[in-house]
Amino acid sequence: MLAKTSAGPDLLVDALPSLASLPRAGLVSGPTPIEPLAGLPDVYLKRDDLTATDYGGNKIRKLDYLLADALARGRRTLTVFGYAGSNFVAATSWHARKLGLQVQGGLLPQRPAVYVADNLSISLHCGTDLFLRDADSGIVMAAAGRAVRSLAGGRLPYWIPPGGSNALGALGFVAAAFELQSQIEGGLLPCPAALYVPFSSMGTVAGLCVGLALAGLPTRIEAVQVVSDRHAGRDALGRLIDRLARLLRRHGIRLPQTDFLMSRVSVRTKFYGGEYALATPTVKAAMTRFTEATGARSDSAYSGKALACLFADRDAALNPGPALYWHTFSATALPPGVVRTPLSQVPDALKPYWAFARVADGPGAPPECIYA
Ligand SMILES: Cc1ncc(COP(=O)(O)O)c(C=O)c1O
Repeated sequence: MLAKTSAGPDLLVDALPSLASLPRAGLVSGPTPIEPLAGLPDVYLKRDDLTATDYGGNKIRKLDYLLADALARGRRTLTVFGYAGSNFVAATSWHARKLGLQVQGGLLPQRPAVYVADNLSISLHCGTDLFLRDADSGIVMAAAGRAVRSLAGGRLPYWIPPGGSNALGALGFVAAAFELQSQIEGGLLPCPAALYVPFSSMGTVAGLCVGLALAGLPTRIEAVQVVSDRHAGRDALGRLIDRLARLLRRHGIRLPQTDFLMSRVSVRTKFYGGEYALATPTVKAAMTRFTEATGARSDSAYSGKALACLFADRDAALNPGPALYWHTFSATALPPGVVRTPLSQVPDALKPYWAFARVADGPGAPPECIYA
């Protein structure tokens, strides 16, 4: 049976009881820790790399609602999308399997890195049906073909948009804002003036933007863009917030106008570097600085770019006042019992990602390989 989050009370439902009817899968292992970020006065770290003990990261909060919804609708298969090294496809594969759900994952090519082979290994370990295509249209067509075949078997797959970023997925981050509020009230950190987080499929920022408003926190969001404008931007964020507002309205919860909510969000484009997952020198330096300060690992696609923005602002004394960096990359590279898939068992289309991983593991690994 589906459970509420296993650790302690459901703070979102305590604050907004009408949301009790929305099931959760119980994937989030409790409030994620808040820590001061060593070496940066007045900067705190929200450890969403630890959302789940076996395999965490920001996707778990979205999957908590999405997987529960899929089960409640009687679906047995999920269709998900991402880049080859997608954390979302890996996280969905891992957590869905525990709930008895199968996954089909449509992938776009990306720059290789060690974490790409690791994430693909998680999906392969879980038996996910992975299909790599060169363009968005190619993966949608391939997924549609699979959906038609599943329908012939009597069940529609449950389609989840890239990154789990629909209104229901974003609700996981409305809940996260209430978690933050209780940690502020508990004295773990002052109310942050600014919150730094990566901005990709936008569900994290949309949920936080709405959640902070509902929780009465005046924190500004520095949404650090990590994908091209085609995939993330203010207009698309506004549409996602509108959809989240409609979901909340159906439960009797009213929100201020989207424009007003979005006036608290700055989209920071400078750290993207023109290519998804490209580790620019600034990003590499930020990742090294972060790992030295905290011991936590980071990645060049998401956390490295948000960190680059945070460090640049603090070093230039921009955005004064307490700041919170929301760390979204899973603390563990591979869940328990998962090893990197031996090359001989890797589908041909994915083999190029293994060539890089083997080089990266050897002596004199190039700096792009720093991820832990
Ligand atoms: C590690 C990590 N951080 C941040 C994000 C961005 O979150 P969102 O897609 O909700 O914008 C992602 C999305 O894939 C991610 O994998």
